[in-house]
Amino acid sequence: MVLAVAFVGLGSGGGGREQSLREAASRSGLLIGTAVRPAQLSEASYASTLAREFNMVEPEDALKWEVVHPEPQSFNFSQADQIVDFATRHGMKVRGHTLVWHRQNPKWLTEGKYTSEELAQALEHHIKAVVGHYRGQIFAWDVVNEAFDELHPGTLRSTIWRDQPGLTSSFEPRDSSGPASSDLGARNSQQSYSYIERCFRWAHEADPQALLFYNEAEAETVNPKSDAIYTMVRDFRQRGVPMDGVGFQMHIANLHTDVASISTNIKRFTAFGVQVHITEMDVALPVDAKGNARPEDLQRQADIYRQIASACLAHPGCSAIQTWGFTDKYSWIGSHSKHTQGTALLFDHNYRAKPAYEALRSALKLGQR
Ligand code: XIL
Repeated sequence: MVLAVAFVGLGSGGGGREQSLREAASRSGLLIGTAVRPAQLSEASYASTLAREFNMVEPEDALKWEVVHPEPQSFNFSQADQIVDFATRHGMKVRGHTLVWHRQNPKWLTEGKYTSEELAQALEHHIKAVVGHYRGQIFAWDVVNEAFDELHPGTLRSTIWRDQPGLTSSFEPRDSSGPASSDLGARNSQQSYSYIERCFRWAHEADPQALLFYNEAEAETVNPKSDAIYTMVRDFRQRGVPMDGVGFQMHIANLHTDVASISTNIKRFTAFGVQVHITEMDVALPVDAKGNARPEDLQRQADIYRQIASACLAHPGCSAIQTWGFTDKYSWIGSHSKHTQGTALLFDHNYRAKPAYEALRSALKLGQR
């Protein structure tokens, strides 16, 4: 399908065309991205809105293990390749998501019986094959996603990677020749994140140019989880572990966001030289049986998009803002909330810009740096 409708107006009427998000963002030196589902790329309105508004894309599910690594010895890159191809044709960067997570893994992995050495080999093989396939094409990776626990702050979540048999034992004791021993006291009070370190090192070997991120949910504000991540990231940086940034997912599920705390958190991470990417932003609103939100909530949602964008732009190390999809027609929030919430994104079901879109664009225009 030919994308001849790439520059439709946005209800501005008359003469001059309004700036798109990507135009406003590039003037601020910021990447503006969105998660993408390959099946939708053949839909003209989806593709034209995507190409017009964003300068970065990220496969929403296409690079998760269950899609990309369906059998132990075979990979299926066809879905993610479609997205990378679209990005290439439209001058967009690609973020990769995600190499290590506890969800959306294939049964052969979760139900197989492996020793920790075999599990480590499978993980190394996966990371090097996937990162290697996209070497030079995917500029930044969420290497590890959501490894810290919600319920027990400061500890690692129980996952196939951490336990039963887990990888940690195969990486302990760690090499004692480096300067790490001074940190061991602090680290021993937590569960070891040595497996995370190994993942970053493998990814770096597969593509030394790629930026490597640790991505997390519910660590956007200063809180026990972001404190634990901060400790890990500082340790990694001090010891030269190849880690470039932290992703704050930014799935906002109520309208009482503590933007000041988010800003303080961005500041403390960027202060020691790591980049921050806002990686999965959406702002879920309560909806009625027809899926409609109240007009005043749409306005408050717009304020949150504006404030988060401004908080990012205030810190030069905050280099990307990405939304988790861009049209309410395709958003994970509906099924995730059992349809009690919705309308979380910048465009409605018919690709009309919502107040959130206008608010984000005005923040991008104002925040030039
Ligand atoms: C979600 C996708 O949007 C859905 O399509 C899928 O069914 C489940 O996963 N945090 C993450 C993302 O890091 O990978 C998740 O994506 C949303 C929460």
